[in-house]
Amino acid sequence: MRKLIVIAGIAVIAGIFLSNATAQDGGQGAPGLGDPFYDRLGNGGYDTLHYMIDLSVDVNTNTISGTTTIEAEATQTLTGFNLDFAGLKISDISVNDVSADYSRDDFELIVIPATPIEEGATFVTVVTYSGIPTPYPDPSVDGFPIGWLRFGGTIFVMSEPGGAMSWFPNNNHPSDKATYTFEITVPELYVVAATGLPVDEIDNGDTRTFVSEMNDPMASYLASISVGDFVRVDETGPDGLLIRNYFPTDQAEELTDAFSPTGEMIAFFSDLFGPYPFDVYGAVVVTIPFGGALENQTLSIFGTDAVDEYTIVHELSHQWFGDSVSPATWDDIWLNEGFATYAEALWAEYLDGETGLTDYMDELYDYMVEEELGPPGLPDSSDLFNGAVYLRGGWTLHALRLKVGDEAFFEILRTYYARFQYANASTEDFIAVAEEISGEDLTGFFQMWLYDEEVPEMPE
Ligand code: TRP
Ligand code: ZN
Repeated sequence: MRKLIVIAGIAVIAGIFLSNATAQDGGQGAPGLGDPFYDRLGNGGYDTLHYMIDLSVDVNTNTISGTTTIEAEATQTLTGFNLDFAGLKISDISVNDVSADYSRDDFELIVIPATPIEEGATFVTVVTYSGIPTPYPDPSVDGFPIGWLRFGGTIFVMSEPGGAMSWFPNNNHPSDKATYTFEITVPELYVVAATGLPVDEIDNGDTRTFVSEMNDPMASYLASISVGDFVRVDETGPDGLLIRNYFPTDQAEELTDAFSPTGEMIAFFSDLFGPYPFDVYGAVVVTIPFGGALENQTLSIFGTDAVDEYTIVHELSHQWFGDSVSPATWDDIWLNEGFATYAEALWAEYLDGETGLTDYMDELYDYMVEEELGPPGLPDSSDLFNGAVYLRGGWTLHALRLKVGDEAFFEILRTYYARFQYANASTEDFIAVAEEISGEDLTGFFQMWLYDEEVPEMPE
């Protein structure tokens, strides 16, 4: 009898401890994910599964209105959670169909559902909003505004790294990928180019709704739409892959020509790295000379003055390295840009053999020395996309190839891609694959190329 009481007492005490532990695990999800460059980007306590971005765009006033619906799974008990969302006017938020409380603190949107969400539960948040999106002055791209942009009669989205929150509420960090549906309604004379597979085009009379599906996981910075006077030009890539390009109507002919090697490039990288990761590819060209391009997932975007073969090949290669394999945190950016730069050199090698490759790399080396480019593994947080990350990042791969030999090098790239596709990788993950495949201790090698201040000597 006595014993039983004691056991019951222990059970009660254990119960108290257990319920305390649960209470501690619950609460408000964290307002950031601990990114070394952006402590407030991304949010803790949940994992997004699917976004449905349903917006009407008034092109003349640059105003948007509609809803973003986010399906997510709670990774802890949540009395509340944050989204990242900058500007715009919110008229309503619901969680699981029940109106929720919310408040805003700069770009943190703090949502308090009517009832807590249990750990492991899937929940649906609908944010209804409208307004003129304000581009985000990202501290990592030298104040250059990113996100939702308008120039003349064209609207387009370029978000890397932090701009996605300028047009839809999201978990704004590459480590939380999700699938997407885009349903974008525009006046009938405009065409929408969206990331993902175009699945429907609904004629509503004086407006049209363009629907596309991103069926593979995507980081929010790679979600994009463009609205303009585009003509869609389709091609067929390797294994019947749909290549759908959107060109300004008055430049369609010359641009069709300029992008015609895309299919051959996809075949080349598929052989070299592994299968093309997505169910569609293509380019959108906007009539803005912004002097660059961005690898939005399945739909790279180019300014009219950035349409050249090596930029085309650069953005395409990002579909493997950057989009399918994404950086674990933003200080791993050389895993995107160094790889895409080296992919350009691989294309030069494909076209012109060994001299194509060495000419390309020699030129980068000279520039690297002249500019004293610093360590790509320690990028400048106020200038994330600087030359070191691109050129010395690319050279790190070339030097690795010279060190371990072609066979091991390409096996490293294929293994790294196969292991981390549709997910994220860190610099340590890449180094681990390189050491595993080559069987060499590469600590000193990567220290010198990625982390030492001085530009390493040209390898033999
Ligand atoms: N990732 C782009 C490239 O391929 C560079 C880039 C980063 C960018 N952020 C951007 C381009 C914003 C345009 C807008 O090199
Ligand atoms: Zn790039």
